[in-house]
Amino acid sequence: MTESTTIRWEQDDTGVVTLVLDDPNQSANTMNQAFRDSLAVITDRLEAERDSIRGVILTSAKKTFFAGGDLRDLIRVTPETAQELFDGGLAVKRDLRRIETLGKPVVAAINGAALGGGFELALACHHRIALDTPGTRIGCPEVTLGLLPGGGGVVRTVRLLGIADALLKVLLQGTQYNARRARDNGLVHEVAESPEELIAKARAFIDAHPESRQPWDTPGYKIPGGTPAHPKFAANLPAFPANLRKQTNGAPYPAPRNILAAAVEGSQVDFETAQVIEARYFVELAAGQISKNMIQAFFFDLQAVNSGANRPKGVEPRQVRKVAVLGAGMMGAGIAYACARAGIDVVLKDVSAEAAAKGKGYSEKLCAKAVAKGRTTQEKADALLARITPTAETADLAGCDAVIEAVFEDTALKHKVFQEIESVVAPDALLCSNTSTLPITTLAEGVERQADFIGLHFFSPVDKMPLVEIIKGERTGEEALARAFDLVRQINKTPIVVNDSRGFFTSRVIGHFLNEGVAMVGEGVEPASVEQAAAQAGYPAKVLSLMDELTLTLPRKIRAETRRAVEEAGGTWTAHPAETVVDRMVDEFGRTGRSGGAGFYDYTEDGKRAGLWPGLREHFTKPGHDIPFRDMQERMLFAEALDTVRLLEEGVLTSVADANIGSVLGIGFPGWTGGVLQYINGYEGGLPGFVARARELAERYGDRFTPPALLVAKAEKGETFTDAR
Ligand code: NAI
Repeated sequence: MTESTTIRWEQDDTGVVTLVLDDPNQSANTMNQAFRDSLAVITDRLEAERDSIRGVILTSAKKTFFAGGDLRDLIRVTPETAQELFDGGLAVKRDLRRIETLGKPVVAAINGAALGGGFELALACHHRIALDTPGTRIGCPEVTLGLLPGGGGVVRTVRLLGIADALLKVLLQGTQYNARRARDNGLVHEVAESPEELIAKARAFIDAHPESRQPWDTPGYKIPGGTPAHPKFAANLPAFPANLRKQTNGAPYPAPRNILAAAVEGSQVDFETAQVIEARYFVELAAGQISKNMIQAFFFDLQAVNSGANRPKGVEPRQVRKVAVLGAGMMGAGIAYACARAGIDVVLKDVSAEAAAKGKGYSEKLCAKAVAKGRTTQEKADALLARITPTAETADLAGCDAVIEAVFEDTALKHKVFQEIESVVAPDALLCSNTSTLPITTLAEGVERQADFIGLHFFSPVDKMPLVEIIKGERTGEEALARAFDLVRQINKTPIVVNDSRGFFTSRVIGHFLNEGVAMVGEGVEPASVEQAAAQAGYPAKVLSLMDELTLTLPRKIRAETRRAVEEAGGTWTAHPAETVVDRMVDEFGRTGRSGGAGFYDYTEDGKRAGLWPGLREHFTKPGHDIPFRDMQERMLFAEALDTVRLLEEGVLTSVADANIGSVLGIGFPGWTGGVLQYINGYEGGLPGFVARARELAERYGDRFTPPALLVAKAEKGETFTDAR
């Protein structure tokens, strides 16, 4: 006989049954086979012993309530095993339906995170109470993994909140609410302050509602806000596709589309049929490639990266207490804020007291905004600001156990500022530079303790961008690497680790995206089509507009330096077709980008984009030179992916997860791909398909698309890009 291994049955003498979710083999409860079996056993027992039961409390013995679908299972689903997933899903739905129609009150006592499947379990309960702890997160984030809630989540949120709110507040954005916001938005009924109160409130509900049922099982029930058949609703419906377009930029994200379809179609039929519709749309997503890409990147890779798969083993973890930030410009100001927010004391140094104070002013603005929006309290904001000391005095850096330098991008200047402070800060302080282009090994030559010197490349704006690229110089020690890793985690950012090389990983690879877009303009392709191609490929910023943001002069400077370095090393420089376009834009037309008031776009007086510069068509566009739209998109995607493989060959990158995460979080490589190397893995026809297509692009557009030897070898051996862990 099957037993319940993951759900414990505890019954008291008043007839209240507490079902305790407690998978003995995992740190969190998931919807694995053991759970599905247990749920069936428990449901049978509830029905058999119905008459002796007064009510049911569903809660968990783990830190989280329930973690949702088992992603290790889901990532392996193929079109061949899809039917199995469909049947298994329907079985769970049937059991949950049996519990919600038991005729006895069932209460979810949500003691921690209830995301995805966890929230779906709670939705099948008549009453939901959430414990107000920092760990409590409630919602349906499936969309962020390319999936939809397939455990009744679409069917029930639509019936609970109405189609519009279900879609906008829960399903399409994947918002994760804390306990209070979940209550305010109608996802749960009550909040409890302590575990004791949580259970007491659950019991109180049972006492007061001996014959509970769901709103949708109550006579006369109608979906709140109406259904598409309803004239009032029909008037709002056209807003949804527009919302979808805005959310996905026209890029190939199938999940929002399936969610919308499941919600709308499911609202027009009875509950059981809606469950089947939801299951079909769910399985279609789970069997497809894009959910696999997204699960790989946003779950497995992210977890590997954040949990320290690349952190040197055996170095004791250390926390930074006081950090010196050198340079209070755009980056220094942002870094100071990020550190102070994480509770670290910050000494923010610039050339004058005024410049340093101005840097602190940036944190003051961010704090005021956060308070105004209710994201933090005045008290917390004041405490954050009190941790930042602006100064122009080197002596104030005494005792700092880490230094992050963010002065102008100039080797001599960086050497000078490190010389000034090295003897003042703690004798073993970690020494970091936020350079975006200069070799770390060369910068390290300016300090005494080269083993403690490392690159810490933040992205702008620092408060929003989740990634930090850690760059190991030739003489950087393992201890410094571990400490840099710990510091990045301490400020809640995601660290990837690369070896020193010009442009590191991120700056070098994003350069290929920009170059490809600009090159197409030079070939005579309509500039508006180039922008559209980037958007529809899923890039968050269009290519020419991004070029304008970064300025056209910066790549020229980097190109000149790189070219000099290549030639000094005895190599020959291969010019990229983008170069002549950039040169003409700057030299002939005086258009240097947004900060110069004119670039590929025109700008208004106050710096707003005012459309593509009409001169582009006049000077560059050649009618009839359009190329297939798919080629446009794939030239950008392939250019980045192919160079990432070269970086692996060169040993600059040492981890596939770092490449995937770094590309999506740092430089806007489209999320649906699962990152720059997962894009290759998931390409139609796998690696051999990718190689064949790269050769085709090389034939048409130039040698830079010739697949590197490592890629060809892997394709021939039938391998994919994965980390051996
Ligand atoms: P910025 O020009 O806004 O700020 C530089 C600051 O350094 C100025 O406030 C300046 O007064 C100060 N400074 C100059 N000499 C100093 C000295 N001797 N002591 C103390 N402070 C001094 O420049 P930004 O954009 O903040 O860049 C700083 C560094 O960060 C550069 O190395 C840059 O390459 C790098 N970086 C920039 C990114 C960006 O998006 N702007 C992204 C990642 C890295």
